[in-house]
Amino acid sequence: MAVGIFDSGLGGLTVYDAVARAMPDVPFVYYGDNAHAPYGVRDAEDIFNLTCAGVERLWAEGCDLVVLACNTASAVALKCMQETWVPKDKRVLGVFVPLIEALTERQWGDNSPPREVAVKHVALFATPATVASRAFQRELAFRAIGVDVEAQPCGGVVDAIEQGDEMLAEALVRSHVEALMRRMPKPEAAMLGCTHYPLMQAAFQDALGPDVKVYSQADLVAPSLIDYLARHPDFAGTGTESKFLTTGDPVRVSSKATQFLRRRIAFEAA
Ligand code: DGL
Repeated sequence: MAVGIFDSGLGGLTVYDAVARAMPDVPFVYYGDNAHAPYGVRDAEDIFNLTCAGVERLWAEGCDLVVLACNTASAVALKCMQETWVPKDKRVLGVFVPLIEALTERQWGDNSPPREVAVKHVALFATPATVASRAFQRELAFRAIGVDVEAQPCGGVVDAIEQGDEMLAEALVRSHVEALMRRMPKPEAAMLGCTHYPLMQAAFQDALGPDVKVYSQADLVAPSLIDYLARHPDFAGTGTESKFLTTGDPVRVSSKATQFLRRRIAFEAA
């Protein structure tokens, strides 16, 4: 059994780390499309094609189930992939829905009609492509009513993280939070709608202040995945080995990944 984890680059490592800790016996194959990151400034067709190429590579590793640990791919490409491209014996899941279920305090797969929820003012921080897709608002509307969402496209943050420039990333986070709070001065909750952003979670929390509850996907995806595999054991896949694949330079990517996760991570060429 092996499960694939796809991301445009290094951000999905936040999700990988959480699921690997929660499921220590499952081999995970991670695919980072570092050569083409960031996805957040690409158009929908590009994101669709690049995501499909990465997912096919993970299928070739014996991962019948692939998690798109990338909001941009989940928001922009996943629906079309599931409707037109994924064969019956494979599954591709996104990371958007677990975040929204946590915000709306729903159990996985609860399809009851939308209802009022405790939070009324929600800040969404995501890549420009994710914000433009309005996928978050669409999924939220299926589950909750009366929630005001203010979305901030956080240009530059993923680039700064991929380059390992933490100071620039922090400065950009601060200015994006300030820009959002000019439009929504008192959000009750903030969604980090990009898997790179948990690497900057402290900067987001600091800029937002202690009263804002910050939701990030890393911890939310693991229980959903455990639940999914228990209900769909057929998608466990034939892979047996954990590995890290990148379309970028394996030496450079390994060194950044090791810096992010604070333990040695060795990537190989995809
Ligand atoms: N980390 C990904 C996301 O969650 C992609 C960021 C990017 O490549 O722009 O959106």
